[in-house]
Amino acid sequence: MPTLTVPLAQRSYPIIIEPGLLARVGAHLRQAGLHHQVAVVTQPPVAASHGARLRAGLEDAGITPLVIEVPDGEASKSLAQASRLYDLLLQARFERGATLLAFGGGVVGDLTGFVAATYLRGIAFVQVPTTLLAQVDSSVGGKTAVNHELGKNLIGAFYQPRAVYIDPQTLRSLPPREYRAGLAEVVKCGFIADAGLVGYLEQEMNAVREQAPEALERMIQASCRIKAEVVGADEEDRTGRRAILNYGHTLAHAIEAVCHYEEYRHGEAVAIGMVCAARLSEEVLGCPGNLGERTLALLSALGLPTRCAGLSPARLLEAMALDKKVQHGRLRFVLLPRVGAAKLVGDVPTELVRRAIPV
Ligand SMILES: NC(=O)c1ccc[n+]([C@@H]2O[C@H](COP(=O)([O-])OP(=O)(O)OC[C@H]3O[C@@H](n4cnc5c(N)ncnc54)[C@H](O)[C@@H]3O)[C@@H](O)[C@H]2O)c1
Ligand SMILES: [Zn+2]
Repeated sequence: MPTLTVPLAQRSYPIIIEPGLLARVGAHLRQAGLHHQVAVVTQPPVAASHGARLRAGLEDAGITPLVIEVPDGEASKSLAQASRLYDLLLQARFERGATLLAFGGGVVGDLTGFVAATYLRGIAFVQVPTTLLAQVDSSVGGKTAVNHELGKNLIGAFYQPRAVYIDPQTLRSLPPREYRAGLAEVVKCGFIADAGLVGYLEQEMNAVREQAPEALERMIQASCRIKAEVVGADEEDRTGRRAILNYGHTLAHAIEAVCHYEEYRHGEAVAIGMVCAARLSEEVLGCPGNLGERTLALLSALGLPTRCAGLSPARLLEAMALDKKVQHGRLRFVLLPRVGAAKLVGDVPTELVRRAIPV
């Protein structure tokens, strides 16, 4: 499979997508000069299912890693876990030339990236993502963070990895609900930047649902290509270009906040958010092609939720108003003028939003 590049001048880096790649990560690290001291940061389900294969490949390349497991779950994205990692790295005398390898889902990726950005003022890090969400979204782009009790991802840094190594075979052990949640971000990529990908998902639904190798390859490649392009154009989210990746996320963040991050996986909230954003795209931008219905049909066929029954629209609007995307009482949404194109719209009237929320 081809290698993609995130184009960031001297900090450009490759995204390699290849079945079975896990066993060859060690060789890639050596080739890239990232083999001197390596710490693998991982979570228990990933270590149990795939740790041995990664380690064997590292050892074949002459690398004996320090392996650090963090407890499973979002709570590990904390300053307390970061501090524990600093302690372990210092005790093992990790130096400036060391490499951190994030081996797991987005939780491990965000935490490891944050620690890599700050340990000794920054050491190399690579991503070996093992959830679909991490393979199509969080491992690319350099947003690293831990959570604060006042909100998610409030403490962090932009810090790019040196490489992203994606082995789609690791998804075989992923719980089906996590897989479906990751699909929501693939659907999002299609709607904002790749009409062909949306058509593919609609036509090859069975292959997608069953995780057929060719479907995984198509989806991961297309999503990473889009993310790489957007990040290359607007690395630090300053021009509005990177903001298009937030399609469906205005309502999603409100749903997650109102439910205290418990009831819905992030991707599930994004699915519901896309139904809302699709309806608004029709109303506000005159997006053609029955976008609302098309979105609903695709997401439900993929087993994703399409409405947030039981949540009060008033509370969701309140949560949206607290979000940083609100300006002068009008909500900002990423909307589609057509499938495959997206723009940030800064003045969506609250009443329209209320009617578009799928309850
Ligand atoms: N940095 C970014 O740009 C960005 C973008 C989107 C999301 N995120 C962050 O990503 C996090 C969510 O990531 P996630 O959904 O991957 O969650 P996660 O890391 O909690 O993984 C979900 C679950 O799957 C398990 N798991 C992972 N890989 C597995 C495998 N191959 N087999 C079996 N089980 C496996 C994990 O142990 C966990 O229980 C959130 O904290 C979110 O803020 C970051
Ligand atoms: Zn998202």
